[in-house]
Amino acid sequence: MLLSLHYVIIATLCYYHYIMLLSLHLITRISFPFSIGHRHQQTTAKRVEEVEFDGPCMKTEVPGPRSKILAQQLESIQSVVQVNFFCDYEESKGNYLVDVDGNRMLDVYTQIASIPIGYNHPALTKVMTDPKNMGTFVNRPALGMMPPEQFSEKLVNGLMAVAPKGFSRVQTMACGSCSNENAYKAIFIWYRVRAGVLSFFFQVPGCPDLTLLSFMGGFHGRTLGCLATTHTKAIQKLDVPSFDWPIASFPQLRYPLDQFERENAREEARCLEEAEDLIVKWNQKGRHVAGVVIEPIQAEGGDNHASFDFYTKLRGITKKHGCAFLVDEVQTGGGSTGKFWAHEHWGLDDPADIVSFSKKMLTGGYYQKDSFQPDKPFRIFNTWLGDHTKNLLLTEVIKVIKTENLLDQAKRSGKVMLEGLYDLQDKYPHLLSKARGIGTFCAIDVKDEDTRNLLLLKARNKGVVLGGCGTQSIRFRPALVFKEHHAHLFLDIFNDAITELK
Ligand SMILES: Cc1ncc(COP(=O)(O)O)c(C=O)c1O
Repeated sequence: MLLSLHYVIIATLCYYHYIMLLSLHLITRISFPFSIGHRHQQTTAKRVEEVEFDGPCMKTEVPGPRSKILAQQLESIQSVVQVNFFCDYEESKGNYLVDVDGNRMLDVYTQIASIPIGYNHPALTKVMTDPKNMGTFVNRPALGMMPPEQFSEKLVNGLMAVAPKGFSRVQTMACGSCSNENAYKAIFIWYRVRAGVLSFFFQVPGCPDLTLLSFMGGFHGRTLGCLATTHTKAIQKLDVPSFDWPIASFPQLRYPLDQFERENAREEARCLEEAEDLIVKWNQKGRHVAGVVIEPIQAEGGDNHASFDFYTKLRGITKKHGCAFLVDEVQTGGGSTGKFWAHEHWGLDDPADIVSFSKKMLTGGYYQKDSFQPDKPFRIFNTWLGDHTKNLLLTEVIKVIKTENLLDQAKRSGKVMLEGLYDLQDKYPHLLSKARGIGTFCAIDVKDEDTRNLLLLKARNKGVVLGGCGTQSIRFRPALVFKEHHAHLFLDIFNDAITELK
């Protein structure tokens, strides 16, 4: 009896929510009848609606009772400190993540920016169930030594079809850290081979004292080499031995950008000068800087942007001093900025020597200039060298991005997001500041860390999954199928969550 009453209440709440969302869609349509977005939405609406829910539907607080039980079970085997809640990946669809308590949430975080075209996209489930692909899914081939027949064809139609300008080679890997770790090795090998020195021993000169320059606030992974170039939270580096490599300041821009043009230009010039000085000094002391690694937007570090001019000049410095330039697109790559690669916004003919990726690209790896291909076998190697099932899925993802014009979609949805965030920061100036972003790759700062964390929880209980970055920022990382109406819906719920803070 009690149980059925419980279900009646839940059904009523979801129905109520559905009606609210429906009216919200109608209001949006009435208020923006001529926006390009809605014209686009009408042409593709059926396709998306077929695979998606109408809006969030909350039944419990998150984590709910089932999540808590599962966390208790897991606790005896693993730490659960970082587990937010358990998910039902069968039920999740499109932009909506469903948890094990049946809560359906609009996902504006997407597994740390890693779901390119939404949950359970039919194009991807088709790949999984295609008997032609069964062998790849059942037997995970070791790609370095025994690749399957269609390996190069899938690379050509997948990763190479979206290769950044100037790159004709790609090396697949597993995760983002694994990609950077091996890209660093490729840089060191390139540096030595170029200098005509072969290394054989585990000490100098066989194991040269080369270095890699990174930036404060950068994040490139948590494996040992990557960790030496990661400078976000102290806890990530605590107790772990590290390389002593040069670290330059990353520009701390002041917002709104148009009001601080002079100050920001000065700040960027200071950082560029510091980076160049470090390269010169470390070269002089014999600890040569073989490469420079940077993100096009420092993501984990707090969505820190620098101008395209900053990156252009930095690229110039690396060329001048013979350092490789590694652009880490693990988080920015895959289309959310409105271009497939965030560094394409810089508009350079020769923007990088290596570009690493993972997350939305499903497979990890890096594009490299020809000269970075190691001269001998097994210098860059591991058992799997990526995962061919991810290459199969990525080929479909890229088709969907192209046929559904999802890069333009990211620009349009991003515009709605950013304008909405500007409005919110005007409305709550004591709470919010520094709304920023390109495409849907947006962020906003909250007045302090505790308030930010509270806001994330409140938004989640209202049906929106968000993530933090840096000390007090909220980052928005929706999938590429996130449309204008999702952005409106998100802004509405986010506004509700903010009002609850007061
Ligand atoms: C820019 C960047 N590089 C590297 C990594 C590391 O990737 P992974 O967590 O897959 O090892 C991340 C992860 O967030 C990242 O954002």
